[in-house]
Amino acid sequence: MAERLEPWGEGDLPLLEKLLGDPAMMEHLGGPESPAQLAERQKRYERLAESGIGRCFKIIDGSTDEAVGSVYEIGWSVLPPFQGRGIAARGTGLAIKVARSERKHRFLHAFPSVDNAPSNAICRKLGFTLIEETEFEYPKGSFMRCNDWRFDLFAAHNDAR
Ligand SMILES: CC(C)(COP(=O)(O)OP(=O)(O)OC[C@H]1O[C@@H](n2cnc3c(N)ncnc32)[C@H](O)[C@@H]1OP(=O)(O)O)[C@@H](O)C(=O)NCCC(=O)NCCS
Repeated sequence: MAERLEPWGEGDLPLLEKLLGDPAMMEHLGGPESPAQLAERQKRYERLAESGIGRCFKIIDGSTDEAVGSVYEIGWSVLPPFQGRGIAARGTGLAIKVARSERKHRFLHAFPSVDNAPSNAICRKLGFTLIEETEFEYPKGSFMRCNDWRFDLFAAHNDAR
């Protein structure tokens, strides 16, 4: 299956609701966000590209043009019916290519919960290096045990798929 990334857009609140408003999807991320939080996040994502501080993409299924997930700096989520097909790994690989071509930052970090087996598998598979296990505050006021995975965007040997 061929995916492509597109910048997060003004009409993407429904996708955000399905990704970050769903209790099952947010099991490792401090629980679902409220409608007010989602609306606020949507505004932030819309402004992100022009702010220069980050990028947010949606993952589009190339065969149907349907939006099936997101990749941001750098975390990932994919709608339940589309999970287990390698979409998160390939979408993240595409985002890594964008970040590498910009040559703005050397290191990309991901902080999946230690219990999030698929996310840790994605980091390992894409060539991230495990730095350490650490405590991370996300969302604010809630602490979780995370792995700090680091990807060297300048290293020639890293070939993200
Ligand atoms: C995490 C998430 C994005 C994975 O999406 P996905 O498209 O199903 O992931 P992929 O298919 O690309 O890859 C998952 C990998 O994890 C592996 N995996 C899945 N479940 C696993 C498990 N329980 N134990 C070990 N490995 C597992 C898969 O085998 C696959 O590796 P492979 O391709 O080498 O076989 C998706 O589950 C999700 O959106 N979860 C909710 C949001 C979330 O927690 N996001 C992560 C924040 S860090």
